[in-house]
Amino acid sequence: QQTDKELLYKIHEVANDFFQNQLFESEEGKAVGYSYFKERELRDEIIRKFQLGYSPEQRNAFTEYALNKGYSKEILEKSGLSVFPESVPNGVDRFRERVIFPIHSFSGRVLGFGARILKSNVKTAKYLNSPETEIYHKSNVLYGLNQSKQAISKNNLCLLVEGYMDVIALHQAGIENVVSSSGTALTVEQIKLIKRLTENVTILFDGDAAGIKASFRSIDMLLSESMNIRILLFPDGDDPDSFSRKHPQEFVENFIKNEAKDFIDFKAEILLKEAGEDPIKKAEAIRDIVKSVAFVRNALKQEVYLKEISNRFGLSEQSLFNELNVQKQIKN
Ligand code: UTP
Ligand code: MN
Ligand code: MN
Ligand code: MN
Ligand code: MN
Repeated sequence: QQTDKELLYKIHEVANDFFQNQLFESEEGKAVGYSYFKERELRDEIIRKFQLGYSPEQRNAFTEYALNKGYSKEILEKSGLSVFPESVPNGVDRFRERVIFPIHSFSGRVLGFGARILKSNVKTAKYLNSPETEIYHKSNVLYGLNQSKQAISKNNLCLLVEGYMDVIALHQAGIENVVSSSGTALTVEQIKLIKRLTENVTILFDGDAAGIKASFRSIDMLLSESMNIRILLFPDGDDPDSFSRKHPQEFVENFIKNEAKDFIDFKAEILLKEAGEDPIKKAEAIRDIVKSVAFVRNALKQEVYLKEISNRFGLSEQSLFNELNVQKQIKN
């Protein structure tokens, strides 16, 4: 007697094979899915490494395949891969006419999928992901961790990017210590997964407003889990995928190494640019930086950071310390 969980793992394995087969073997998959990945300059070895796939246009292609293999409608619905509306007893696939990114657990089991539309002008969401199921809890999973864990340990550093394609493109560029929270805000559980391998994280988010906002939030999360962090935003709206395809590997590696800033410099640069010469806005910027220091758990580290802010802005440590205490009180 197999439990639901075992069946769910099994059906994800079956689906993963199905989607990869479609990509490499079917006429539609080759013409649409495979050529999409080629347009994005992915090599075969990297397509295989990340087990990328394709879900056909036919609306129940996978559902039909799985039913024929003996999986029940009930388990298919629980997996999130199929729905069975009353009007469509044969079922409907969740993912149709999309390229597929399997999401693996730390140890390499397939837990769910992300799926991208091929045309960017369509009104529907660019990426569709598996729903929460008995085996997939998106807040506990980091995309790419299974493929990256050894390099993260070896480099004693984890690069954190926004998207599926960023992880894959960096691997292709020879930079393999990278994971993504894939569109969800970074969670404590995800940070704890990284912490098993390293305490050092470099945030590499998209150089747009959303990327800045997400990086500010992630900074505070990571600090409160006692991680050492550096941050880099890519110039001109690039993300790690587009950037790594424009430049040779060594340049990308050096760029990440040299341009990543500590969180004080990073926040100062962005907030002070916004503030200009306005003293009130300047003060707000400094408060915002001290607010992040309030997330640091270690008192000694807090003091070091305050000293740095003090030097940088020519403010007394005492007034910064007072502000820190105010911020701590607001937090609790
Ligand atoms: P981005 O919009 O930055 O996409 O979202 P991207 O990864 O650069 O995508 P490409 O290069 O156009 O293919 C970053 C991540 O947020 C999640 C995905 O995980 C994506 O990789 N996301 C984005 C979703 O889950 N749904 C969406 O509709 C959009
Ligand atoms: Mn569970
Ligand atoms: Mn983005
Ligand atoms: Mn992006
Ligand atoms: Mn991108």
